[in-house]
Amino acid sequence: MSEKRTKKINDFFIYKNNNLYVEDVSVINIANNIKTPFYVYSTASLRRRYIDLATSLNNIKHSLYFSVKSNSNLAVLRVLSLLGSGMDVVSGGEYLRAQKAGVPGYKVVFSGVGKTYDEIKLALNGGIRQFNVESIPEIIMINKIASSLGKKAPISIRVNPDVDAQTHEKIMTGTSENKFGIPLNSALEVYKMASELNSIEIVGIDLHIGSQITDLLPFETAFIKIASFIEKLREEGHSIDRVDIGGGLGISYSTKEEDPISVDKFAIMLSKIFSKLNIEIQLEPGRFISGNSGLLITSVVYLKEGTNKNFLIIDAGMNDLLRPAIYDAEHEFLPVSETKNNDNKIVADIVGPICESSDVFSKNIILPKMTSGDFLAIYSAGAYGAVMSSEYNSRPLIPELIVDENLVSVIRSRPKIEEVIKRDQIPYWLR
Ligand code: LLP
Repeated sequence: MSEKRTKKINDFFIYKNNNLYVEDVSVINIANNIKTPFYVYSTASLRRRYIDLATSLNNIKHSLYFSVKSNSNLAVLRVLSLLGSGMDVVSGGEYLRAQKAGVPGYKVVFSGVGKTYDEIKLALNGGIRQFNVESIPEIIMINKIASSLGKKAPISIRVNPDVDAQTHEKIMTGTSENKFGIPLNSALEVYKMASELNSIEIVGIDLHIGSQITDLLPFETAFIKIASFIEKLREEGHSIDRVDIGGGLGISYSTKEEDPISVDKFAIMLSKIFSKLNIEIQLEPGRFISGNSGLLITSVVYLKEGTNKNFLIIDAGMNDLLRPAIYDAEHEFLPVSETKNNDNKIVADIVGPICESSDVFSKNIILPKMTSGDFLAIYSAGAYGAVMSSEYNSRPLIPELIVDENLVSVIRSRPKIEEVIKRDQIPYWLR
């Protein structure tokens, strides 16, 4: 048998004889069995990203809490939980997912500006490592619920360091313009107030300045501010044993480029700033682990050739992957089969089928001339893809699959449209 010609995008997404594989599974084989569009994740990639990060932080007292909001599929959470990861959750639903994936409460941190009574109670009853609290009324609410349950609630206060993370304005969180955290200049008073409550136990401090950050400097600026604030807090008698630095590590959205931030350099920077404080550093990585571990597989519906412009209309839409429409995100398109019409190229906009002019994935892309039924893969779709999808235009949520070496499994199936419609009810007076 002839040796297969291989070309690597990375260790997990590989062309063998011009066909795209996820680990040892051919995407065409999957797509011939499961209707596109669907998401497919690589277990080995998830593992590698987690382990790479953990290894870089080896010499630092640290712990990792995967940000469930980036990809909350139980199978993905399970892969990470088996590696020992904790979870960062922002709702009761995410808390229950973490629990179902086998993550014990003491490895779960609960973030978010609007935790409700029910969510706080759920976490206190099920066990929680800490609530990252964001306001005085929230602290009062947590104290009240903990007291009624006869428990002490561990909290870290999320402070807002007022640092511009130099990222897209819609995913920037750490400036005074944002709704997140308590401004540094009033945080001392809030710590004092919290320390006087009987059912609150202060365990640390928390921050998160934004997402898809591609430069070390904003992190460094924020962490230096926090480190000196921690010293101040300790002088005031607060026991600050943990600093939760949130997530935000950017990734490369191009198969041709390395990640913008080296995690080794990130680790050195952390160690320089925090080691003198002898403090545990908690990280909440989401995109760094899941982003480049997943593809969205789609197929061409039509190639619409025009006098001014060509449009490649695909069967995935902004309801399946919202990022291009709301953050102007550019996801790279990869052919699933490289053999197709390679010398016959066209320039086209790649668009979805949704009736909105923002349903555009890429403009003026040079592509092999494709025809109805050809498959394409959208790269970097593992984070904030499936989790942000909707049923807009009455399109059922699309399936998610996971590959582990030569194994492949559906980890969320596509509901039948009848099931989707059945959730609505016509009231009796309209029947
Ligand atoms: N911790 C907190 C408190 C967060 O708010 C977030 C993300 C993370 C951790 C994880 O951040 P990451 O490591 O993934 O950057 N939908 C947007 C991203 C929103 C991020 C929200 N917070 C996108 O598709 O780019």
